[in-house]
Amino acid sequence: MSETGRKTAVISEEELENQKQFAQKVNSVISARYNKKPLACVITYGCQQNVADSEKIKGMLDEMGYDFTDNRLEAQLIIFNTCAVREHAEDRVFGNVGSLKTYKREHPDAVIALCGCMMQQKHIADKIKRSYPFVDLVFGTHVIHCLPELLYRAITGRKRVFEIPDMDGAIAEGIPVKRDNDAKAWLPIMYGCNNFCTYCIVPYVRGRERSRSLENIVSEFKELVSQGYKEITLLGQNVNSYGKDLIPQVSFAELLRTLNSLDGDFRIRFMTSHPKDCTKELIETMANCDKVAQHLHLPFQSGNNRVLKAMNRHYTREQYLELINYAKELMGDELSITSDIIVGFPGETYEEFKDTLSLVEEVKATSLFTFIYSPRKGTPAAEMDDPVPYEEKSRWFKELTDLQEKISASQMALHKDRVYKCYVYGKGKLNDNYVAARNDGNLIIEFEGDESLIGSFQKVKVIEPLTFVMRGELVKEK
Ligand code: 5AD
Ligand code: SF4
Repeated sequence: MSETGRKTAVISEEELENQKQFAQKVNSVISARYNKKPLACVITYGCQQNVADSEKIKGMLDEMGYDFTDNRLEAQLIIFNTCAVREHAEDRVFGNVGSLKTYKREHPDAVIALCGCMMQQKHIADKIKRSYPFVDLVFGTHVIHCLPELLYRAITGRKRVFEIPDMDGAIAEGIPVKRDNDAKAWLPIMYGCNNFCTYCIVPYVRGRERSRSLENIVSEFKELVSQGYKEITLLGQNVNSYGKDLIPQVSFAELLRTLNSLDGDFRIRFMTSHPKDCTKELIETMANCDKVAQHLHLPFQSGNNRVLKAMNRHYTREQYLELINYAKELMGDELSITSDIIVGFPGETYEEFKDTLSLVEEVKATSLFTFIYSPRKGTPAAEMDDPVPYEEKSRWFKELTDLQEKISASQMALHKDRVYKCYVYGKGKLNDNYVAARNDGNLIIEFEGDESLIGSFQKVKVIEPLTFVMRGELVKEK
């Protein structure tokens, strides 16, 4: 236990200062080497946590004197921030890194770096070491804040740099952030995961749950609001267990109430929630806080209790439905529900999968993120019998997506005549004099309006739900 009021380790100020000095050193080396600012291209795979990490990577690179490009073939530094959640994401990384072999031969000065969840797995780092000799720098999820030092070693030394410590993880505060969007911001409130769902690699590559302090979150939040950010998404693998490692403990509902009470015109979103830790208090807080989006991303993964148990999810279908029904009861039409589902978990039968279909029918989500199970080396599920062939799982998958398509279409129709608070984010596509806005549930509503509305919240009534967007009209406040 440290005097900072937490059980989790925090990276010391000395260490962060040390990294700032390395940032200066990198700056001196690249200023001597190039006659203008060199370009960095940061390519991000996977979830919002990775997007947030990449924004820190870009913040540090900015400080070191790099400029940015989206074209990897003009960059002096290419960083792939990778995802390990499914095999498909890993295959894409190998393909894209492989295709840089010629570029590296023609531009030996260019630095190719890999980081993120994939690199935190030993067998992957070994494969890069062995089969991708043109990769200069590989670093794991726990040392992102050391990028200045690692990059310095990579650009000045002769040896390739591999830095992948195996640890529970710590928290680094005060890393500069270069954000991709000037209206929407990601704000990580915690890192890691303790749940060990049997299919999931995340707890192995991201370490144990650790929460940022309430003060640090509030101060970053206030800064974002003062910079004009309107939609701020709180991020964590399991935001519902936020604050359990703080002393004294702070609940996620308390954090939401604190942020909701801050001055300013903004909307708070959050993801991801775990049903086992989602409390009625949280749902009540969502319903009562006017600045909290009435959007609940609550993954249920499967609708069958045996499969849920085998997944180590710690809730039943009935408990899940109880939460959803309570949320619907309190928030009514305003509530938007989204969820993640895995099809074809090892040993799942078609009968069991049908329970997922029936739960999908009951939940009536706005949209679903659906995945075919992908075995992850080192997880318990990867060792389980998995007799159903992939083609069969693909058929089930299609059945699920067809069903959700029908539900989404009928859900869209229900929006007719409803009025939503929307954030106007840009010009519309339906007509030249339309602007486009999003409601709490991330649905796009376009309406006739002046461009001066862009960047503000407005009340909009849905006139005509179309397939992907809705046509609406501005509701004038009396
Ligand atoms: N295979 C398929 N989907 C997975 N997910 C996590 N691990 C796997 C896996 N091994 C999905 C879960 C999770 C989402 C982020 O990714 O649905 O909620
Ligand atoms: Fe993976 Fe489960 Fe943790 Fe989500 S809660 S990151 S699915 S182990």
